[in-house]
Amino acid sequence: MRLNSQSIRHMSAGKKTPQFAKGAGIWTSAKGAPVAIDQAINQADKSRGLAFAITNEKPYRWGEVLPYFWLRDNCRCGTCINQDTRQRNFDTFELPEDIGPVRITTNEAGLEIEWSHGSHISFYRWDFLESYMKGARPEPDDVPFVYFGSEGHANSSIEIEYAEFFKDETHAVGRLTDRIKRNGYAVVIGVPTESAKPTEDLLRKIGPIRETHYGGFYDFTADMKYADTAYTNIPLALHTDNTYFTDPSGVQAFHLLSHTVAGSVKGSGSDLGGQSSLLDGFYAAHIMKEEAPDLFEVLANVGVPYHASGNKGIAISPDELYPVLEYNTERNIMHRIRWNNDDRGVVFPGGKYSIMQWYKAAAKWREILARKELVYWFQLKPGNLLLFNNYRLLHGRSAFVGIRRICGGYINYDDFISRWRNTNYPRDQVLKQVTG
Ligand SMILES: [Fe+2]
Ligand SMILES: [Zn+2]
Repeated sequence: MRLNSQSIRHMSAGKKTPQFAKGAGIWTSAKGAPVAIDQAINQADKSRGLAFAITNEKPYRWGEVLPYFWLRDNCRCGTCINQDTRQRNFDTFELPEDIGPVRITTNEAGLEIEWSHGSHISFYRWDFLESYMKGARPEPDDVPFVYFGSEGHANSSIEIEYAEFFKDETHAVGRLTDRIKRNGYAVVIGVPTESAKPTEDLLRKIGPIRETHYGGFYDFTADMKYADTAYTNIPLALHTDNTYFTDPSGVQAFHLLSHTVAGSVKGSGSDLGGQSSLLDGFYAAHIMKEEAPDLFEVLANVGVPYHASGNKGIAISPDELYPVLEYNTERNIMHRIRWNNDDRGVVFPGGKYSIMQWYKAAAKWREILARKELVYWFQLKPGNLLLFNNYRLLHGRSAFVGIRRICGGYINYDDFISRWRNTNYPRDQVLKQVTG
């Protein structure tokens, strides 16, 4: 059935219904979907603009009014956006507030507007407008998370050969980052162990190695050089790193270069202890949300203080209080976990939830983390470089004897995601994702 704008207006009663200035129904298609367009006035701020409805979605409704000012501000043309830097090339606030169209036309590819001011013509692709007309931000990195439990992931879905990085670097980095993004971790196998340099060079292919108060790329043996339990040989409970930073590191990398017992026959494998553990924190959060939604809410809402202050001259804590579970309620997905009970400061009274409610929620979380079916235990091996998403995974290790030499480093989350995008998608698609 071919609707006309009169019937659309009639059918779209409700508070989202725009008030129409003049009838200007225009019909075309975005990705094959028929779109109704009309001029409208936003009820809330009285701005004039265009309203859109995708008419084959049931029930269809008029989406947000996209104001003319917004449309002009987001002109995609080569004059308005610097084609080299992708930055906006004009001063938005010199546009007249009441800017409007003198002509609107559409075709298969998109919508063209000739403006009342500056004799400028703008063109908007349908795919650019599509999510905004539904009132949503385009989501640049929507890939599904594949959860894991005590078995870990199958080797075939996490392993990448070191040699691949020298055949086709972009392809190999793309596979590596995509595996970390989807599965939570990945392992590069066959990395040289004679020195830490090949590991460092490999990490730099993903992004800049982050400098912290512990240094940048590290190569250490347990010697208590820094006042942190990570530098000892005691067991470490499951935790995320950098809870005390405003912006915790996104990716962490570990490479066990050697594990020996001084002065005796070289030990091997699990007799020396030091097994590593990984746990899929997003999976654990999912379980918590199912089993105890009220307690999940507590952990997702109560901001907790964290700190790193064991080293002289260092007293780091985040700019704000962040909850243990950062959950995006609009997209219904987990965003980030901060969990290190040793680095936690003092949870304080006075918020929406009581202190004991927080402890109860944290105890439930702790109970889930202790479930055997969730913890993946394995032995780090020389030659295998482990990389994981520190926003999502918790890691730990058992006690060990002997001397372990481990190297590794941190990569910022933003640098990791940028590299993931640019090695997995064509550049034009990346720009669409990022610049809208
Ligand atoms: Fe750690
Ligand atoms: Zn323009």
